[in-house]
Amino acid sequence: MTSRKSFYITTPIYYVNDVPHIGHAYTTLACDVMARYKRSRGYEVFFLTGTDEHGQKVEKAAHAKGETPLELADRVVKRFQSLWDKLDISHTDFIRTSQERHKEAVQEIFKRIEAKGDIYLGEYEDWYCTPCETFWTETQLLDGNCPDCGRPTDKLKEESYFFRMSQYQEQLLKHIEDNPDFIQPKTRRNEILSFVREGLRDLSISRTTFSWGIPVPNNEKHVIYVWFDALTNYISALGFPKDDDGNFQQFWPCDVHVIGKDILRFHTVYWPTFLMAAGIPLPDKVFAHGWWTVEGQKMSKSLANVVEPNMLIDKYGVDAIRYFLLREVPFGLDGDFSHAALIHRINSDLANDLGNLVSRSTAMLNKYFDGVLPVPDQPTAHDTALKDAFLGRLDSIDQQMNDLAFNKALQSIWELVSAANKYIDEMAPWSLAKEESQTNRLGTVLYNLIESVRLISLLIEPFMPQTGAKIDTILGLDPHDLQLEGQDSWGRMQPGTLISKTEPLFPRIDTT
Ligand code: MSP
Repeated sequence: MTSRKSFYITTPIYYVNDVPHIGHAYTTLACDVMARYKRSRGYEVFFLTGTDEHGQKVEKAAHAKGETPLELADRVVKRFQSLWDKLDISHTDFIRTSQERHKEAVQEIFKRIEAKGDIYLGEYEDWYCTPCETFWTETQLLDGNCPDCGRPTDKLKEESYFFRMSQYQEQLLKHIEDNPDFIQPKTRRNEILSFVREGLRDLSISRTTFSWGIPVPNNEKHVIYVWFDALTNYISALGFPKDDDGNFQQFWPCDVHVIGKDILRFHTVYWPTFLMAAGIPLPDKVFAHGWWTVEGQKMSKSLANVVEPNMLIDKYGVDAIRYFLLREVPFGLDGDFSHAALIHRINSDLANDLGNLVSRSTAMLNKYFDGVLPVPDQPTAHDTALKDAFLGRLDSIDQQMNDLAFNKALQSIWELVSAANKYIDEMAPWSLAKEESQTNRLGTVLYNLIESVRLISLLIEPFMPQTGAKIDTILGLDPHDLQLEGQDSWGRMQPGTLISKTEPLFPRIDTT
């Protein structure tokens, strides 16, 4: 990631012909964690999400329900927005492709590419998969069906505008080769490299068979292809082309587009070549995460109900879900959602490890010092080892976060939780409390524990904002004043601070 102090991160924009499920929640959550983390490191963050509303699928679904496409979109958009509220998503903006600001940007980049001579009018004949909104060549079909979803395709012939994508093959290859981090993880990069090396065809970028979309400038018979339309959201939301607020200037190029592996080609072949043709710099990075199965099976409509995100949040709490989704599976690989695995994580990592650390530390401080944080004495070798464990891991956690290796970052944070729990066991404050001569030592041990809890709270806040805020309140801290301060991070708790006692942060879930 670059060293500038602005950070721009995006989710894909979600189709409105489906209601939000755990897969959508996952992408958005990962971006939220990253946005919150970058804010905690002092970055000004623009975090974008939104909805992809145009196209034949939405038009058909709306007609089937006796609605206009916009009425359908308005209804479904609310479901996404209310889920994001419930999931504590801290986005800066929510773009809808039906908005006027978006239309203007899409038409502008179309015009720029056309003016350059890279858009021409031709005739299109190929196999079209309506559910996937994708054209396939004869050889790409599997038994005559869509190679992605397996459903039947239709032969379509129509007048269409084409983008000269073939002209950009070498430039794109060179960009991917020169920028090893552009496509991540590595396996995805290799996939795209071989795809591009096989050759790029010109791309049909308009349709005449439906009307729910953005018209081609000066030829209203055509609407612009949904992917050309959708991908442009990443700059239309920043105010491109007028840039009245200066957001485009400040935040583009994007630091990272986070997407699922199924939409990799659109983001690493189509989008960069559109941008090259329009003379706009490319995003720094595209990261493709894996897919979730549910209890070992591909997510179907009925399975999606079993892991309906609102239901999961009501049942287990928002932070537990946030933690589980990012802890359980390395970001980039596929993963399986099971209730048993979720409950195990809640009981062991959250209730046991984290919950006990916070309740034991604060309870002892209240018991032995009436909740008033003592002044620490000279550190012993044990104290220094604890401090070094924290400071030593901050840089690697930063690296893991910048690599979007969320599960590794959480693992590192939990090593600190364990180190602090071990420090309690080894220092045995309850024994020190029995001897009056050890009061200063007892005070130092408890100071170090509370300081550990403060840093852990800061580190977990991006993943579990409510828990982080709860701990800050217990420690008498204002979360807004807090930032990680690199190697100066240790020892910032003010002696004399009044620390309250706490109810368990995560009650254990009874599995019997
Ligand atoms: N509208 C397009 C994206 C346009 S971006 C310019 C789209 N929308 S989508 O709603 O179908 O999917 C959005 C995201 O959800 C994708 O990144 C996709 O990978 C993700 N997921 C959908 N199902 C998923 C799982 N079962 N597991 C993990 N993520 C999944 O594609």
